[in-house]
Amino acid sequence: MSDPAFSHAIPCCPTVAAIRALVGQWRQEGQTIALVPTMGALHEGHLSLVRQAKQQAKRVVVSIFVNPTQFAPNEDFSSYPRQLQRDLDLLATVGIDAVFTPDAGVMYPAGFSTTISMVGPATVGLEDASRPVFFNGVATVVAKLLIQVAPDLAIFGEKDFQQLAVIKQLVLDLDLPVTVQGGPTMREADGLAMSSRNVYLSTAERALAPRLYRSMNGVKDGIAAGQSVPSLIRAAKTELEQVGFTIDYLVLRDASTLAEWHGRSQGRLLVAAWLGKTRLIDNIGIGYVDLDGHIKE
Ligand code: PAF
Repeated sequence: MSDPAFSHAIPCCPTVAAIRALVGQWRQEGQTIALVPTMGALHEGHLSLVRQAKQQAKRVVVSIFVNPTQFAPNEDFSSYPRQLQRDLDLLATVGIDAVFTPDAGVMYPAGFSTTISMVGPATVGLEDASRPVFFNGVATVVAKLLIQVAPDLAIFGEKDFQQLAVIKQLVLDLDLPVTVQGGPTMREADGLAMSSRNVYLSTAERALAPRLYRSMNGVKDGIAAGQSVPSLIRAAKTELEQVGFTIDYLVLRDASTLAEWHGRSQGRLLVAAWLGKTRLIDNIGIGYVDLDGHIKE
């Protein structure tokens, strides 16, 4: 069952049959199961999702698979950090019950012919605008992972806020018997959202990167003080562009539908921006406007 190439106390299942056998055994014993799907290159953000999972389920499985179908040919599939032994060491520090480590041959064997194609939250002009293949790739692989592992609960980071909305819709649409939960974004001490891609930043870019979070908080504070949303967003974009960011989007959306925000629902400020060759994304909640016109969390 365990992949002999990697030594660790955590059972490492490289095949669907292996993970199903383990999960099946837990099910027979009446135990609940949570899945934390990842692409590896784990950091504290992933570990916080694992801790969240451990609080709610008896057994926790982490999947590690760098999914080729969610990368466009011009994206970083080949350079995406792969460090399985380090990931296993990190997971051992939080204690999980199994790692599911399929390879591309297991996930997409010869003759594989199915892609899940989504609209709704997958086509609201955010990540989808610059990453047209991304959500169909994510939806397809996540549906497979959920069918393969069959967890009661699956946890995804809120940092990929649109992805979380897409997965919630996917699970609803396909009647998959699993609860999907978001986990809060973990940040470095200077506010930068943790991401496996932060390793791409040069020293100078790393020093600039926290400005993204600071600008978003500036917009949030301005909204709370009653200033105009379009001018706050314009000013934040200008400020970020002046220090070297190239903005894909900086927008305020309804937190549940990702449509335009009109105030009487929870708002979410979402940003995607390039610093050199690294694309950073982030988002924060900004609350809603109450009947007296005040912003409430
Ligand atoms: O967020 C990620 O790491 C990936 O998009 C996911 C959900 C594991 C699917 O490959």
